[in-house]
Amino acid sequence: LRAASSSSSRSRNATQQRLPGAIIIGVRKGGTRALLEMLSLHPDVEVAKAEVHYFNVEEHFQRGLAWYRAQMPFTLPGQLTVEKTPGYFASPQVPVRVWEMNPAVRLLLIVRDPAERLVSDYTQVLHNRVTRHKPYQPLEELLLRQGHIDPAYKALQRSLYHQHLTRWLDVFPREQVHVVDGEALIRHPFPELRRAEKFLDLPPRIAPSNFYFNTTKGFYCLLSAGGHDKCLDESKGRPHAPLSSQAFRKLCGYFREPNRLFFEMVGRSFSWC
Ligand code: A3P
Repeated sequence: LRAASSSSSRSRNATQQRLPGAIIIGVRKGGTRALLEMLSLHPDVEVAKAEVHYFNVEEHFQRGLAWYRAQMPFTLPGQLTVEKTPGYFASPQVPVRVWEMNPAVRLLLIVRDPAERLVSDYTQVLHNRVTRHKPYQPLEELLLRQGHIDPAYKALQRSLYHQHLTRWLDVFPREQVHVVDGEALIRHPFPELRRAEKFLDLPPRIAPSNFYFNTTKGFYCLLSAGGHDKCLDESKGRPHAPLSSQAFRKLCGYFREPNRLFFEMVGRSFSWC
């Protein structure tokens, strides 16, 4: 009740909807929801709760910027609006469209071991299929063709971070893209959030006391200033679909070179498989 009345009083206080100053562009299954929720702990940040899919879904894009703005939360002047749509990262038409909206917009990219990301991606698709009564196909069947990794598998392509990031860096300077380590965000959210605040030119307001480890969930959950306690829903951090260790090793081998190219591009490395 308190949350509802404070947000309605905020919207009465001459606030307005503004275009985002920062966008979490991906990667799908990288921890984008956790990052958005954690950023929203900051008093100067307001986030679009639902994924907007403006730049990547033609039907939305055709509605124009007024429609996009109408999807945004109400903010006071000086507050930062953030939206997250992980589908932006791998969509070729998106970087230029974002640039045309605002060439100074800040981009957040949260990454994770691409092999783990792929299995998580498959698990999500599988989960959606099951609820839509589509037939079950094991991951190995989709991933391997005659014992070799099938490069046509969509979830595999979404893990080729260097290919997608190249298109963003054709449009935006490297300094405008902040890379967040998704595995580090799981283990120790606070330092990643401190770095994100710095990148976003926000005063440091998110504190270690905003996070507590929930042993039932097995992940950090959030404590806001008002004492509200929030864990991410059960679709975040769920058990992964099975994959043989042999197939997983093949996947790791497949990503070795793409990962090297990605590390070169971002100027840092990650301890991925
Ligand atoms: P898994 O479900 O594969 O573990 P996204 O929000 O981009 O879909 O990312 C989902 C991932 O966020 C989860 O993937 C989970 O590992 C990660 N994550 C990071 N921090 C989390 C947190 N505090 N609670 C739950 N999931 C978190």
